[in-house]
Amino acid sequence: MPKPYIPNDKWSQRAASEGYLARSVYKLMEIDARYELIRPGLRVLDIGAAPGSWLQYTSDKLGPEGRVLGLDLKPIAFTAPNVVTRVVDVFDDVAVAKAIAERSWKHVDLVLSDIAPNTSGIKDVDQWRSIELNQKIAAIARKYLRGKGSVVMKVFRGKDFDAFTQELKTQFRRLKVMSAVASRDRSREVYVVCSEAITLS
Ligand SMILES: C[S@@+](CC[C@H](N)C(=O)[O-])C[C@H]1O[C@@H](n2cnc3c(N)ncnc32)[C@H](O)[C@@H]1O
Repeated sequence: MPKPYIPNDKWSQRAASEGYLARSVYKLMEIDARYELIRPGLRVLDIGAAPGSWLQYTSDKLGPEGRVLGLDLKPIAFTAPNVVTRVVDVFDDVAVAKAIAERSWKHVDLVLSDIAPNTSGIKDVDQWRSIELNQKIAAIARKYLRGKGSVVMKVFRGKDFDAFTQELKTQFRRLKVMSAVASRDRSREVYVVCSEAITLS
């Protein structure tokens, strides 16, 4: 029998007690502990950033020399001196490019994405929407990352997952898949970490 949805689970309670805006922060902490992606001074693009717990964690770790740009369909109330946020649909190429150009960034060092579609409850539909969103994230990452830069993507596992990772392997030299302990027990989400984009010649 599936476990019931518990809105006030231990991760949410911990986030509330530690002042984080969402329980998702513990997933990013796990990813960062494993891959050491977030380092002082980097330029980071966080896509699907609302309400902002990843921004909170990233802002702290980047320090005063680092910068993070958070994009989401929803406005983000969180502010910090090294954080800028914009309301942008990731499928709107012009708006994404404008948000990055406003920062005078020609490239970014790291792309983080915890983006998730509005779920319909129909497993295959939700999984395909997650893949579509992540195809867009991968395209943005390839456009703006340089050198060995990495992109973290949250993807729902399902029948299209293997085809998507195969697609990613033609776009990036390195690919890792990890499940976060802080993901809900019944969740099918995993985090895919790709680096060293293969540039189009
Ligand atoms: C799980 S939440 C992210 C939580 C965030 N990492 C945090 O720590 O607070 C997923 C976000 O993806 C955003 N999203 C979904 N579709 C989007 C789109 N097309 N463009 C931009 N953001 C989108 C949603 O609005 C939602 O805020």
